[in-house]
Amino acid sequence: MRVLVTGARGKVGRATVAALQEAGHDVRATDLAPPVFERPAEGEADYFQADLTDAGDAFAVVRGAEVVVHAAAIPEPTRNPPHVVFHNNLMSTFNTLEAAIRFGATRFVNLSSETVPGFFFPERPVLPEYVPVDEEHPIRPQDPYATAKHFGEQLMDAALRRSDIRCISIRPSWVQHEGNYERNLGPMIRDHSETSPGFWSYIDVYDLADAIVLATESGLPGHEVFYIASPDNVGGRPFEQAVREHYGDKVEIKTPLSREDAGGISIEKARRMLGYDPKRSWGDYLDEGGRLKPGVTGLFS
Ligand SMILES: NC(=O)c1ccc[n+]([C@@H]2O[C@H](COP(=O)([O-])OP(=O)(O)OC[C@H]3O[C@@H](n4cnc5c(N)ncnc54)[C@H](O)[C@@H]3O)[C@@H](O)[C@H]2O)c1
Repeated sequence: MRVLVTGARGKVGRATVAALQEAGHDVRATDLAPPVFERPAEGEADYFQADLTDAGDAFAVVRGAEVVVHAAAIPEPTRNPPHVVFHNNLMSTFNTLEAAIRFGATRFVNLSSETVPGFFFPERPVLPEYVPVDEEHPIRPQDPYATAKHFGEQLMDAALRRSDIRCISIRPSWVQHEGNYERNLGPMIRDHSETSPGFWSYIDVYDLADAIVLATESGLPGHEVFYIASPDNVGGRPFEQAVREHYGDKVEIKTPLSREDAGGISIEKARRMLGYDPKRSWGDYLDEGGRLKPGVTGLFS
């Protein structure tokens, strides 16, 4: 299929372009970065520069795509002014989806976020009602990033009411690759007193890219939301014990767990409906001291 990947110069976009090409799709990549006006390297995806907050840019780049994978966004709310995060993320999703509908694309894969329910960047701290969190958990976002992602999911619902497009929203956990595992997760592996709003869940970028390929190729009707995370937790600690140690009885634990070292996000819906089958773990990259193992390489080396 002809697939457009937005945010293609970012972490998720890069891995997704490679995975889609590997799966045999005709991929066009787009991002804010300027193109290089040279002969493309062998196998390199076609690249087009566009700022998706501009509807004209969005329409120019979406034209011709059968499927749009929308990964372009500012990926969290703490390093830009709130109105910039909200405007960039909501309007780029709106314009890209609008263009996909008008040009008759059949599927829109919307990169949403684990932050949608609201306990990642709240001004007034709040805990999940239960863990592992799943797609049924109540949604009460506070910050501009999570609210824009929540509205993005609502834009997908609205798209179904007015067109034949089918949508999948993916809520990834914290994205890791060989270039950032040690920096991001190393300290948490060494120091068990560290907590995380995702209850020590994370996602390997290559497993996430595989899930995005499944979503691209999926025949599911309507708009489905899927959490995508790695099956284990950072450091592989016994989950129930870790939750009780840090949170006492303040958070309900939904049992039975899928495994003793489960993370704080349930991926059962994605396994069941998308055929998601994650293959990687932090332990493939890091030793027990949280240091990168020798010889680990990949797209981000
Ligand atoms: N990184 C994470 O841990 C994480 C977790 C959950 C969800 N997500 C979501 O996954 C998606 C990809 O995130 P990432 O980690 O690859 O982030 P990233 O910052 O590495 O990449 C995002 C890319 O989007 C591009 N972009 C931003 N605004 C744009 C615009 N207006 N027009 C065109 N391009 C624009 C950026 O230039 C960048 O290359 C985002 O939607 C993000 O919100 C990320």
